[in-house]
Amino acid sequence: MNAFLSSANREEAWTTLEEKVLSCTRCELSASRKRVVFGQGNRNSRLVLIGEGPGAEEDEQGIAFVGKAGRLLTQILASVGIEREDIFIMNIVKCRPPGNRVPSPDEMMACSPFLEAQLALLRPELVVCLGNTPTRWLLRTSEGITALRGRWFQWRGISLLPMFHPSYLLRNESRKKGSPKELTWRDINSVKEKLDSLNKEIRQSPGPEGEKTDA
Ligand code: URA
Ligand code: URA
Repeated sequence: MNAFLSSANREEAWTTLEEKVLSCTRCELSASRKRVVFGQGNRNSRLVLIGEGPGAEEDEQGIAFVGKAGRLLTQILASVGIEREDIFIMNIVKCRPPGNRVPSPDEMMACSPFLEAQLALLRPELVVCLGNTPTRWLLRTSEGITALRGRWFQWRGISLLPMFHPSYLLRNESRKKGSPKELTWRDINSVKEKLDSLNKEIRQSPGPEGEKTDA
């Protein structure tokens, strides 16, 4: 639908969607949440990051990836010159699973129309999935993140890269060759390279999609 919407209409559709999500009671997570975490950032970004679900700090603030894992994520992005404000960051489920458990299939299913609508309006060219939950959900696989990370997948015409979740990196401090941190360093460089080459393409041949920003 979105490809046919003017930017004013997309703005309106986004606002309507956000209002709907903020008052959602489609699943049980709505009963225990403090705040809905809709997702934040630059909606014109070519790159969209998808996490699992809000943790305690996100639930307090209503903002994705602001806790300890989020601060590490911000650093990982900054290490290759990507400012988190320049990209869009969201989660598979918008409400905190109690005790930070993995969201259930029913909860992900209940939230899925919102994720789909967000993706339709954001129209990213690159999607990074952080950890098992978003990777398995979007790629419809039961394969684990260790096997999938660092490989670019074509998903609905979008380039999708699974990476380790920053929480996993917090539990695995080693920076040795082949460690999760070192592999993540390779992966984020791969993201940066793809982003740079997309930005270059557009500058060489400005087209009707010129509204996308350099992020
Ligand atoms: N972990 C996630 O997957 N998402 C957040 O927003 C925070 C922590
Ligand atoms: N499990 C996850 O969900 N993500 C990781 O990055 C590692 C283990």
